[in-house]
This record gives sequence, structure tokens and C-alpha cells, in this order.
Amino acid sequence: MPITLKSDDEIAVMREAGQIVGQALEHIRGMVRPGLNLLEVERFVRDEFKRRGAHETFRNYQPNSSFPPYPSNICISVNEQLVHGIPRDRVLEEGDVVTFDLGATYKGYVGDAAITVPVGKVSAKAQELIDVTEASLHAGIKAARTGKRLNDIRGAIEDTIRPHGFGIVKGYGGHGVGRSMHEEPHVENFRHRSRGPELRNGLVLALEPMVTLGDPDVVTCDDKWTVRTKDGSLCCHFEHTIAIREGREAEVLTLP
Ligand code: MF3
Ligand code: CO
Repeated sequence: MPITLKSDDEIAVMREAGQIVGQALEHIRGMVRPGLNLLEVERFVRDEFKRRGAHETFRNYQPNSSFPPYPSNICISVNEQLVHGIPRDRVLEEGDVVTFDLGATYKGYVGDAAITVPVGKVSAKAQELIDVTEASLHAGIKAARTGKRLNDIRGAIEDTIRPHGFGIVKGYGGHGVGRSMHEEPHVENFRHRSRGPELRNGLVLALEPMVTLGDPDVVTCDDKWTVRTKDGSLCCHFEHTIAIREGREAEVLTLP
């Protein structure tokens, strides 16, 4: 599949989809406390999307036939879980680090974003991991300018993370986004040998650095979805959907 560029009208709709996601994530951030049951978050998303006329992008999503359809509207990944955690009857505890990854489809277009949130007081290392992962996302956004290459985004993300000695996960990354959640190009979180495609006006990307405190190797759990670190170390994930604009900084479409 080739890379598609979006018109201004399409980006305007994607901004609406993105805002639904960004606002829902901000609400969820405010819900986080020790004792919060993950199923309360899933119910909030269901009610909020119904209220706003948005479609649950993640539910029943199936990348290929080796996956069962995704059974929820949100991914909630706790501590050593990196991505694609399925909400279940589980209560958050003080010191947990929890990632909420959410997608909405609105008027046919997808917004995709994720935040990692500390539960109560977390260790200094955990807070550093969260801060650096979020900073790497913003470095990637700053590098997303017309005339540059995909490698400039990948390199900006990598260069923010490396000095801290954290792990960068391989095999998962960002992606183009539009009518489908996953479009070309795939956006890894580290520099390649090749410069990659040119960044052009109207290219809409989801950037999503995934960073580990320990070894970057990950495994998939028996539920066929949840991805966690092999060594059980803490990990972190932030994501925004952004639109690349001629001659200026990329627009973040998933702001609250
Ligand atoms: N935001 C994620 C991604 O970009 C999660 C989608 S997985 C799903 O890949 F199954 F939950 F949809
Ligand atoms: Co994504």
C-alpha cells in the first residue's frame, strides 16, 4: 500500500476524531487513583464514544488471522505490560505505571493516541522513564517537517532516549493513519541506515515511542494480545496522531 496524503478537509475531520481521543484520555488521566478498576475505564470509553457519535476503532480489530479479534475499546497496559493489554477486573495500586492507548473513528477517520500515567507515588526511575518517553514523542513531533525524511523523526526519538540508557523496543512502532488505523509508513523509534520517505504536507502519522527500563525484548502473552517485557521490567508508551504541514511544525491532532 502506498503512502496517502490527506487534504485540508480530511485533516479537519481527523482533528475532530483526534480531539475525541485526546479529551477521553485526559478524562481517564483524572480517573487514575489506587483502587480504580480497569473495567470502569472501558465503560467510560463506551459511554463517551456513544455520546459523541464515535466508533470504537479497537474493538474487533484483527491485524491478521493469527490474532483473535481485539475484545475491547481501549488497551490498558500495567507495569511490565507494554502495549495491547486487555482491560479486565483488576484494580490499580499505588506505584503502578499504566498506559492507556485509545482509538476513535469519527466520520470515517481514525484518531490514535496513548498516555502513560503514574498511580500515586512511583519510583524516581519510573518517573524518569515516563518523562523521557514523553519527551521523545515531542522530539519526534518537532522533527516532523516537510522536506525532512522519516529517519529524522526516528533519529530524534532515539536520540532523546539513548542518553538515559533505556531500551527501545523493536518490532513495534508508529504508523500512517487515516481511514484505516494502520497505514504506510511504519515508523520505528530508532534511526535506520536508509533515510526513508520524504515528509510531505498532508502526511498523517501516529508516532508512538515504546521504551523499557531494562532489556528491550518483549513477548506476547497467552491471550495473544498483551505484549510485555521479557525481563519483567517497567515500560512506557506515549502516542499522538500528527499532521505534517508545509513550512511549519506538525499539528498534533489528538490534543484534548
Ligand atoms: N494504538 C495501537 C496501535 O497503534 C493499538 C491498536 S491495537 C488494537 O497499534 F487491537 F487494540 F486495536
Ligand atoms: Co498507534
